[in-house]
Amino acid sequence: MTTARGLFVTFEGGEGAGKSTQIRLLTEALRADGHTVVTTREPGGSAGAEALRHVLLSGAAEPFGVRMEALLFAAARADHLDCVIRPALARGEIVLCDRFVDSSRVYQGVTGNIEPPLMAALERVSIGSTMPDVTLVLDLAADEGLQRARRRAGASAEGASPDRFEKEKLEIHEKRRQGFLDIAAREPERCRVVDGSLDVEDIARDILSEVTRVMAGRASGDSGQAARS
Ligand code: TYD
Repeated sequence: MTTARGLFVTFEGGEGAGKSTQIRLLTEALRADGHTVVTTREPGGSAGAEALRHVLLSGAAEPFGVRMEALLFAAARADHLDCVIRPALARGEIVLCDRFVDSSRVYQGVTGNIEPPLMAALERVSIGSTMPDVTLVLDLAADEGLQRARRRAGASAEGASPDRFEKEKLEIHEKRRQGFLDIAAREPERCRVVDGSLDVEDIARDILSEVTRVMAGRASGDSGQAARS
């Protein structure tokens, strides 16, 4: 079974907020219910975009500055949409994407300090009118995210106070967290903020019910906010 014209769901939030776990659990739940699900991520998700992912995440693009990095994120997104996302939606499938345009708005726009007109122009050329139907913002306090990341890295620094660099990191994380919350407040029809400090299973249940609600609304014809190019 597939939905009538596909459903585009994105996951956003800071590092350590639990996006990958929730994408996995939602994929399993939707597939168990008979849906065809495509899981993908940004930067990346298509051959061209994965090549750009390497350039971006390795730091090779850093010397060219934040504007050039923003251009590359946008170029990767355009290829990803053309090659993977739009075709899947046209087939009526559900696309779950780990990060999308809101990550650019926050990482390049808010903490990268790129001027809003350039961000808006990049958004226009990279996505056209293909916005997500639902964006799940996994919200977690910056210090908790940092602790999780430390635990993941196997550090035994639990309880120790953050050093100078970690403090700086904390401030940036908090700014990004606020950036995602601001987007969610501005676009409440598309965005749902999910408390990332809750139990994994509870979060998964909330996310599934939100996605199911949107699909049901769509089926009964009262949704359809996302115009697609
Ligand atoms: P990734 O290893 O996928 O990490 P995460 O688990 O945090 O998603 O790294 C992606 C990094 O790229 C992450 O630090 C956020 C950043 N990013 C941007 O700066 N702009 C963007 O548009 C996107 C999609 C990601």
